[in-house]
Amino acid sequence: MRKPFVVANWKMHKSVDEALDFIRSLQGRLPDADLVECGVAANFLALYPMLQEVKGQPLEIISQNAYAEYEGAYTGEVSPKALADAGINYALLGHIERRKLFNETDDLVNRKVIATLQAGMTPIICTDETMIQKEFSGSVHYVFEQLINVLRGVSFDQVKNIIISYEPSWAVGVGQHANPNLAEEGCRLIRQTIADSYSYEVADKIRILYGGSVNPENIKQIMNKPDIDGVLIGRASLDTDNFLSMINTVV
Ligand code: G3H
Repeated sequence: MRKPFVVANWKMHKSVDEALDFIRSLQGRLPDADLVECGVAANFLALYPMLQEVKGQPLEIISQNAYAEYEGAYTGEVSPKALADAGINYALLGHIERRKLFNETDDLVNRKVIATLQAGMTPIICTDETMIQKEFSGSVHYVFEQLINVLRGVSFDQVKNIIISYEPSWAVGVGQHANPNLAEEGCRLIRQTIADSYSYEVADKIRILYGGSVNPENIKQIMNKPDIDGVLIGRASLDTDNFLSMINTVV
């Protein structure tokens, strides 16, 4: 059984005080961690105070990025080792906004994935709908090109620990209703890509999230799909009551 995972991605919203208020307002209201995993991806400045505030609550504090090196002359970057040492377990990597606005390439995301895994963290790897044809054991499949590229050098053992988020560019931040059937089709093809590249057993274990205009109205339909194990929620996650209502839909 793959445990559902509901992740809020606040992007560049909320000050430290606003982030801490949000955490306080969740106190005692989150479902048991055995039923659903919940997390909030906040800006770097807020991560450490949030970790202090969250103690005891079933909520992961997640980084929205991490660099591809542990230390050195990389002004403005944050080390995955520093994040792991601080107690952060997950990092979002390769988000579509990082690719579009900050020119992140598959190669850079791949290096970040490797460094994050080596630091002992779990990457939540974002991928969009770009597909190519590939041949596996004589048959041709469509696979997610970005995913293949960013997983280069990730071993069998390591891949079991990653999470993938499918974020089609047509659905992110546009506020339009996500199409649950298209979301499922994308997630199913991602699972197939993992099965082709690794094994069906691994593909069956990996959690795949969907991100793109998820809200309290459409989350149930989306989470009812067999290959969707969780959601990455932007805009609709900024409000505590909305976030809680979406989590409770999944339980
Ligand atoms: O990380 C979240 C995705 O970019 C989706 O954002 O829910 O505002 O469309 P959105």
